[in-house]
Amino acid sequence: MKSDYKSGLKVGILGGGQLGRMFIQEALNFDLHIHILDPNDQSPCAHIAHAFTKGSLQDFDTVYQFGQGKDVVTIEIEHVNVDALEQLEKDGVQVYPQPSLIRLIQDKGLQKEFYRKNDIPTAPYRLIDSEKELENHADFLPFVQKVRTGGYDGRGVQTMQTTTDFEKALIGPSVLEQFVDFDKELSVIVARNANGDVEAYPIVELSFNPVANLVEFLFAPADVSAAVAVKATEIAKDIIEKMEMVGLLAVELFLTKTGEVLVNEVAPRPHNSGHQTIEANFTSQYEQHMRSIINLPLGSTRATMPSVMVNLLGEPGYTGRAKYQGLETVISWEGVYPHLYGKLETKPFRKMGHVTIIDEDLDKAKELAYKVKDILKVISE
Ligand SMILES: Nc1ncnc2c1ncn2[C@@H]1O[C@H](COP(=O)(O)OP(=O)(O)OP(=O)(O)O)[C@@H](O)[C@H]1O
Ligand SMILES: [Mg+2]
Repeated sequence: MKSDYKSGLKVGILGGGQLGRMFIQEALNFDLHIHILDPNDQSPCAHIAHAFTKGSLQDFDTVYQFGQGKDVVTIEIEHVNVDALEQLEKDGVQVYPQPSLIRLIQDKGLQKEFYRKNDIPTAPYRLIDSEKELENHADFLPFVQKVRTGGYDGRGVQTMQTTTDFEKALIGPSVLEQFVDFDKELSVIVARNANGDVEAYPIVELSFNPVANLVEFLFAPADVSAAVAVKATEIAKDIIEKMEMVGLLAVELFLTKTGEVLVNEVAPRPHNSGHQTIEANFTSQYEQHMRSIINLPLGSTRATMPSVMVNLLGEPGYTGRAKYQGLETVISWEGVYPHLYGKLETKPFRKMGHVTIIDEDLDKAKELAYKVKDILKVISE
């Protein structure tokens, strides 16, 4: 028999950025009480959470104290103190995704080893303890050097074509991953609750800004063959099942020019490649994350309409209090939904928000998205 739903559950989130902010927007519909921990008291969640604690996500005592008394603790960024989360788990607090998996995913080296041991397709790689070892791996060129921990948004990733590129070496223990000559970058978001139910979202396609190395456009559904979509979905489900993870997992993939599907990396939380689900799918990724960590039945992931997501990045050349040039024009168009993240200050390429565009016809949504991209600019006063 199903139990009655108890509202007012206390959910603690490590991190108060835009992902937490969109989570809060959805969690209100289920009357959850969201407590946020973030070092920045002007972060996107600071003024909209039930409770906000200013503090370090890396400090054991801060995270441990924050987690005490919560019904569930979760994350919106994986660079957090896992020792504290493990202690909370031992004390009986529900922590999802499980701390052991956060530890695994924090480290791109451990992630790659997991894929290899579990027969998950991924590009060949080597591990080094220090950048000084790069010269021993000239035979492996071209490759991408990735710092094992702490990288995000393309920071901590360096492509090496020839030995002269070793001058640009990133410091510290790294993964050297064979350069993948990809046709497209894809993503599948998948969720699993404590009952073991698994649901995957339709596959999407990402297009990156070459200068900032940040996602610029997302297209849903991806323009790939049915076989590729099925393969990618199987891989994503396989990973979350083999990890026995509870929560939401974004699986970033490469489609190679020869038609292979390879895993790039995973993120155990809502993700940039799922923002469009707020308007374009029956259940948004944020609601799905919530459902998975409080063990509710998962929602339908089906898309109600094709969509395009445009990241709103700070315009180069502008730093300071943000203004949104062209906003009034773009919101006069049908199917255009802006999300401003509530960051006071803009700087070049800072993620300030996103816009979702939906239309029955994906090509029309794309056309509109390019217009939005042209007209809407984040500048400063
Ligand atoms: N092996 C590879 N071959 C070619 N390009 C790669 C490879 N690995 C990564 N890239 C490119 O670099 C981008 C960033 O890499 P990765 O996802 O590992 O880093 P990240 O900093 O964790 O990214 P993010 O936070 O943006 O997801 C990828 O999306 C892809 O465009
Ligand atoms: Mg990535």
